[in-house]
Amino acid sequence: MTEVARIPRHIAIVMDGNGRWAKARHRPRSFGHNAGRKAVRATVESCLREGVQALTLFAFSSENWQRPQDEVGALMGLFVRALDKEVEELRDQGVRLRFIGDLAAFDEPLRQRMQAAMTRTAGNHKLHMSVAVSYGGRWDIVQACRQAAQAVLHGELRPDEIDEARLDRWTSLADLPPLDLFIRTGGEYRLSNFLLWQAAYAELYFTDTLWPDFDHACLQRAIEDYAGRERRFGRTGEQVAPLP
Ligand code: IPE
Ligand code: IPE
Ligand code: MG
Repeated sequence: MTEVARIPRHIAIVMDGNGRWAKARHRPRSFGHNAGRKAVRATVESCLREGVQALTLFAFSSENWQRPQDEVGALMGLFVRALDKEVEELRDQGVRLRFIGDLAAFDEPLRQRMQAAMTRTAGNHKLHMSVAVSYGGRWDIVQACRQAAQAVLHGELRPDEIDEARLDRWTSLADLPPLDLFIRTGGEYRLSNFLLWQAAYAELYFTDTLWPDFDHACLQRAIEDYAGRERRFGRTGEQVAPLP
């Protein structure tokens, strides 16, 4: 495998395990969510250091709205505080921040904060950081289909012109490099409706480490594991092996 392929261009992470981390310390679940902020900071720094181009984090799923109201409220409070505190540093670090998901589900003040953070960092290119909130992979595919239907309705497109490449352009993250590495912390072996379309050929990596404990060494282990994978995309090993 060539040097270039060793560092994934685009990493996505299901940041799971905050609740169990807090429970082990006899603290409320919100304590675990708060502790997860440090892991986000460490991960951003590691990605900048390693030259990863895009980082996509699952912060709140479309299904997480079903959690107890006090936990949802605590998470919203945490988003607001994180936005107020971290955006300037992200901007100075060269990070471009965006939010993906059904943003209309959030109240207006939070939406405005998210928009302001995106605008504030829009000129950056070192690391494209996307935070998925009120996000579901199925939602993403549906909203892309809806845009395709609109285009057909306006006579810009015929139904038979809709193919994978065209639909892809309407999905979230379409402007970023393809997803190379999909990481899930917290020991569960499932996708939980994250990036279903984009993960079609991502390498999957699962670790028992709970999200608040995830650090530079953990990310490096994931990247090393990724570097040892042979990505065949349906071809044979002989077809993709580098020439001797
Ligand atoms: C992930 O941690 C964070 C969110 C879903 C917001 P959890 O809160 O799911 O933690 P566990 O899985 O219960 O330990
Ligand atoms: C997935 O974790 C969502 C986020 C990490 C934001 P969950 O803890 O909600 O997923 P399940 O319920 O274990 O599938
Ligand atoms: Mg969980």
